[in-house]
Amino acid sequence: MILCKTVAELRAELAIARNEGRTIGLVPTMGALHEGHASLIRAANMENDLVVVSVFVNPTQFGPNEDLDSYPRTLEADCLIAEREGADIVFAPTAKEMYPSEDMTWVEVTGGITNVLCGRSRPTHFRGVTTVVSKLFNLAQPDRAYFGQKDAQQVQVLAKMVKDLFFNLQLRIMPIVREADGLAKSSRNTYLSPEERRAALILSRSLKEAEKLFAAGERDGKKLAEFTEELIKTEPMADIDYVEIYRMPDLSECSGPLEGAGLLAVAVRFGKTRLIDNLVLEVK
Ligand code: PAJ
Repeated sequence: MILCKTVAELRAELAIARNEGRTIGLVPTMGALHEGHASLIRAANMENDLVVVSVFVNPTQFGPNEDLDSYPRTLEADCLIAEREGADIVFAPTAKEMYPSEDMTWVEVTGGITNVLCGRSRPTHFRGVTTVVSKLFNLAQPDRAYFGQKDAQQVQVLAKMVKDLFFNLQLRIMPIVREADGLAKSSRNTYLSPEERRAALILSRSLKEAEKLFAAGERDGKKLAEFTEELIKTEPMADIDYVEIYRMPDLSECSGPLEGAGLLAVAVRFGKTRLIDNLVLEVK
């Protein structure tokens, strides 16, 4: 496996592969790789001749009071995991390499899809995500790019960007990987104290209960969201940011009975750590 730290190195490596007619799979990450990331790399390895994993803690997607400085940086361990799961190239640039000029070119998806949920709590977040992912798409020119359903809104925003900007690639969305007790795997789980870690189980548990209620026939989106919120409130350590439901794929308001697919999404703080989780409810 090759570690590329510069744009020039990555381009040189990929030019060879492209000349040989090899297909390219891209897995964008911010590192601190865990089983969730590993599942994306494995899928990319199955479906492409060459797999690029990017490891870049992207400063533009963090707000002023967020965890950019404390975000875990574990490049050596990340390279071992990436190699084990079948990556051919790890691209780990510096911030200067990705953002060479202070005068920025932004790629921004506007409208409701970026204004609700995490877009409301983190107003500049998705602009940072779409900007860096566009740069990665342009650099790697992958045939397929892999993202996790864990970040459900990110997936919908990126799908819109790919469609609107005519990126010539396929988005592949992989299911949420969880710990044995249900907690969605996240690089931020390492911040949790043992008490917070235990309390955080309320997220997956309450979504599971909501799924049961849906399976039993409840179709009122608002009721499903309220039910989930009440359950989360039974955990005293849970400080709720949002518990909401929106229509898929455009994340429009969900009033009245659910039709098609709905996204029930939660963001909750445990101490200083903000965790997200979600459930897709499909009306058959
Ligand atoms: P990061 O949080 O490192 O996640 C990288 C990818 O791994 C994302 O597509 C995310 O949805 C996926 N992922 C994380 N936890 C997962 C889990 N438990 N199960 C399945 N997939 C999981 O998301 C980002 O980085 C950044 O915003 C990025 C897209 C790299 C742009 O900077």
